[in-house]
Formats: sequence, structure tokens, C-alpha cells
Amino acid sequence: MTEPAVPIPTAGVAMTALGVALIRVRETGRPDGLYTDPLAEAFLAAARPGFDDDRWSRMETLADQFYEGRTLAVKAVDDSVQEAVDAGCPQIVLLGAGLDTRAFRLPLPPGTLFFEVDLPELFDFKEPVLAAHRARPVCTRRVVAADLAGDWERVLLTQGFRTDLPTAWIDEGVLGYLARPDAYAVAEAVTRLSAPGSRFGIGRFEVDAAAPRYSALRELVMADNASGRPVNGLGPEAETWFATHGWRTTFRAWDDLVAAYGRPATLGGDHAAGKVLAVRE
Ligand SMILES: C[S@@+](CC[C@H](N)C(=O)[O-])C[C@H]1O[C@@H](n2cnc3c(N)ncnc32)[C@H](O)[C@@H]1O
Repeated sequence: MTEPAVPIPTAGVAMTALGVALIRVRETGRPDGLYTDPLAEAFLAAARPGFDDDRWSRMETLADQFYEGRTLAVKAVDDSVQEAVDAGCPQIVLLGAGLDTRAFRLPLPPGTLFFEVDLPELFDFKEPVLAAHRARPVCTRRVVAADLAGDWERVLLTQGFRTDLPTAWIDEGVLGYLARPDAYAVAEAVTRLSAPGSRFGIGRFEVDAAAPRYSALRELVMADNASGRPVNGLGPEAETWFATHGWRTTFRAWDDLVAAYGRPATLGGDHAAGKVLAVRE
């Protein structure tokens, strides 16, 4: 089909969502795929005309370099959303939703309230592509076009977020793009908005920011952070912060979490790395 003419995120953090879409396309094409995301291909087809061959091929190379770990992470979040629904969370908020399509592709109960928070420029691209493909969510999906370093909480409430319902909050690769005070402002808002039984997954990973693939990623997309403003997310104190702010925390090692997926363990036995699940008391 002819792709719609849309404003394409060709630079800046919104562009990182295209890299993850490339990873989902690759997974979808595998006979032993862990999930299928038919809309990922549509986003790439709509975005391709905005890139010259060099930038597109650099993005493909990076998607290859991050593929093994990132695709397992997509599947792990799919499963954590399902677990949260099964545990009685009728409301889901994806922070930094990017081009994720869980509201379309997961078997969620139709009564689920599903919020996607991301930058306005991301949704300026995403929504017309979804509309052109007549994509229909399986539940109630609401877009929260707002900067997580700004007043996103107000926009979320305006869009119908309910503070009386347990919520599954997902940070799938966004808080690391925020400066530490902004990341903790998000944690405070999440805490304020969370009914008992709400859940928040926190990654506990050592990231070697000096590794070549991270430098290449910064060079490709983060030219707008040339000011050197630190982007360092919640950092190593996150687990303690949640445990001392009304959340009960439990830890699962990453290699154990993904063992059932039958792919090579990406962290090779580093049992200190994994996911902390925080449940609001
Ligand atoms: C690496 S992508 C991940 C996207 C998605 N979670 C996925 O896994 O496909 C990071 C996302 O965070 C979004 N993002 C970065 N900074 C943001 C901010 N300050 N406010 C809202 N969204 C932001 C980007 O636009 C991008 O969609």
C-alpha cells in the first residue's frame, strides 16, 4: 500500500523508536519468532523515505548490534503486561511507548485501559500510519503526547487515567534518556498516581556507555544532546528508592527471566543483572 506522507522522526530520541521497530520486524520474520508485530513493517515503510541510505544503514547496523538482548526484552515486557493483567491490573501505562503496538497485538481484555506516553513528534508519525493501516486496538487505547520531563501527569489525567485502579507501569527504554532529577520526578508521579497493587518494573543492568555501539547510537540520534546535558535515568539507587517510598520490591535475574525463551542467555550468568518488580502497597 502507499504509505501516508507523515512527519518522520529522522533525528533525536523519537528516532530510537524506529530502531526498536527494526528489531521487531526482524523477530516477526523468524520462523521461531518470540512474538509477531505486523505493524512494525508499516512504520518502517513510512519512515524509509525520510532517510538517506547512509543514515538508514547505520540504523540497521545498530538494530543488528542490539537485536539479541532487545528482542528478549520486548518479549519479557509482553509477558509482564500479561502477568499484570492476570494479577488484576486493568490499566497499563507505557512510558516512552515509541512504536510499540501491544494495544493491538496482545490478547488483552477489552475492558483494559491502555495509555501510551511519548513525545508529540513520535505520535505525529505513529497515529497517521496506524490510521492508514486501519489498525484497531483490542482495548481502550489513549495517546498521551507529552514530554516526561514536563507536565505529562496532567495530560495523562486529562486522557482519562484512573487513580483508583491498579496500574502496570512500563519503562521500556525511556527513563535512561532523562536527566536524573527528571527520572525521579517521573518515579514520584508514578508513586502519587498508583493505587495499591500497581506495578513498576525497574531494570538493574550495568550499561557500558563507552562501548562502541552506544557511541554510535549517540552519534546517530543524540546530536540534539550535544550540550552534554547528562541523561542518566534512575541510576543504581532506584531499587532502594522504590522500597522506601511505599513499594514492595522483588528481584529476578535476567538470565532466569528469559531462560524459557530458548535463546542464548545474553548476560552470560551475571546474576546481579535483571529486573526489580515493585508492587505498590
Ligand atoms: C528506545 S525507544 C523505546 C520505544 C519503545 N518503548 C519500544 O521499546 O519500542 C525510547 C522512546 O522514548 C521516547 N522518549 C525519549 N525521551 C522522552 C521524553 N522526555 N518524554 C517522552 N518520551 C520520550 C522516545 O521518543 C522513544 O519513543
